[in-house]
Amino acid sequence: MADAPVSRLVKLTLPDIAGRRREGGRLAMVTAYDAPSARLADLAGIDMILVGDSAGTTVLGGESTVPVTLDEMLLFTRAVVRGVRRAFVVTDMPFGSFQVSDEQAVAAAVRLYKEGGADAVKVEGAGPTLSRIRAIVDAGIPVMGHLGLTPQSATMLGGYRAQARTAAAARRLVDDAIALEEAGVFSIVLEAVPAVVAERATRAVSVPTIGIGAGPGCTGQVLVWHDLLGLTDGHVPKFVRAYANLSAEILRALEAYVADVHSGAFPDERHTYAMPEDQQVLFEADLAGSGK
Ligand code: KIV
Repeated sequence: MADAPVSRLVKLTLPDIAGRRREGGRLAMVTAYDAPSARLADLAGIDMILVGDSAGTTVLGGESTVPVTLDEMLLFTRAVVRGVRRAFVVTDMPFGSFQVSDEQAVAAAVRLYKEGGADAVKVEGAGPTLSRIRAIVDAGIPVMGHLGLTPQSATMLGGYRAQARTAAAARRLVDDAIALEEAGVFSIVLEAVPAVVAERATRAVSVPTIGIGAGPGCTGQVLVWHDLLGLTDGHVPKFVRAYANLSAEILRALEAYVADVHSGAFPDERHTYAMPEDQQVLFEADLAGSGK
């Protein structure tokens, strides 16, 4: 594949991200969990890559994001960072890595930033999370907030369902967005909330908002890699648009491979190493001489 133009490979910075909102532009974000996917996202012009703890379901095959560990997030983050030249990489702080204390939150964020190589971390929620965010930002690590449907708290929220659908809950979300900005986040993910609420929250803050199931009024959009590319097995949320059906394409290729191996059609001559003829003669003679 040809290299992308150099201008597209200059690393995005926090001022670039803030500037995009100021100038009325939009930000395209997608999740990724490995180097080749991150490289493709980067080449496609994706602005921000989220190493989401959605890896717990999309890649690790679990039922939720809750069991994902800090070490697993570090592994995914290192892989993604190796594949990226331009995109700004944000990594999720997994459940259990920031709930205990500000000190615990800073220690976990430092690992993701220093050992993982992420440009920023993402933390779900507001309320008690605000002091964690302030502590991480004070340590010099950029933080992205996340409001609305916060999957780490799905049990408390009554399942994976749209949030902020009452006037009171909508008002709370707008107030939380303001509190997150005051705590120092550089951007806020708004997940599964009515478009009107996301739009009002976006107007209430000056940092970019990134919507997922939050309508067009956000500064940017994020989708999960497997949903966007048609790789999700089972239920896909209403707000997802699949831009490809890669599951079908991968299945077609694997079935063709199985059929070729079973029939002996693969490997054929084109995919096989030949031996120089003189060496083959010597080889056969040697084997014959030794009685094999
Ligand atoms: O983990 C994740 O992929 C996320 C997105 C859904 C925003 O948090």
